[in-house]
Amino acid sequence: MGPIGVFDSGYGGLTILKDIKEKLPSYNFIYLGDNARAPYGTKSFDLVYKYTLQAVKDLFQRNCELVILACNTSSAKALRSIQQKDLQIIAPNKRVLGVIRPSTEIIGELTKSNSVGLLATQGTVTSNSYVIELKKFSPLTKIHQHACPLWVSLIENNKHCSISGKEIIKNDIEILLEKDSNMDLIVLGCTHYPIVKEYIQSIVPKHVNVISQGQIVADRLFDYLNRHKDIESRCSKESKILYLTTGDIDEFNDNASNYIGEQINSSHINLGT
Ligand code: DGL
Repeated sequence: MGPIGVFDSGYGGLTILKDIKEKLPSYNFIYLGDNARAPYGTKSFDLVYKYTLQAVKDLFQRNCELVILACNTSSAKALRSIQQKDLQIIAPNKRVLGVIRPSTEIIGELTKSNSVGLLATQGTVTSNSYVIELKKFSPLTKIHQHACPLWVSLIENNKHCSISGKEIIKNDIEILLEKDSNMDLIVLGCTHYPIVKEYIQSIVPKHVNVISQGQIVADRLFDYLNRHKDIESRCSKESKILYLTTGDIDEFNDNASNYIGEQINSSHINLGT
């Protein structure tokens, strides 16, 4: 028996955990943020894979039977290798899931114009994962991608509400919207971005809906646990959450408490080099 692991490069995965714990309140979770090494979005495939695997192994050692990569960049660059190569060697009975597939399963249902914008990290955009996955579920939907390489650092450093931070965000939104005037949906394809969702929604035209992934991932996880009783029965249920960060504990406690809406007391861990 063990908790469900939720991993992100930093604070972003908290936007997923918030919805997951609302949907599945009785389960135990471990949240792991690799804040010391964020952002991942501008790092190479090899480095993101290495860091993500270190995190997954750490969470497995802490008895997690199931780990959610609540990070699009890790889901794009590391998930497939971990699922297809590493799992059978390190823990054949455990599971690792990502956030891109559940999102692409539903995007087609949320657009009327079939023109969708995607805001994500450079790593996620370059991987083309959203384009490839969306084709499987909604082949007629066109996805216009735009990378926002500065946003994660802005959020990790708590600068997203500053005048210059808002200017950077606005500029990226304008570039995305210029790609197609028919666009009626913007997908926040990075789990850090919901932290600035309200601001984004306030600057886009009224007919453009902005969606984040928390609710979608929480619903899909709920379904997954219903369909996979072997995994579900190995998930502990005492409504406990442990927060771990590779970064500074005080900074994490302040910011994370703010994002998750309750007081958090985290512990520091090292994931390796
Ligand atoms: N939250 C991560 C994602 O969803 C951010 C990646 C980063 O650290 O750049 O992609």
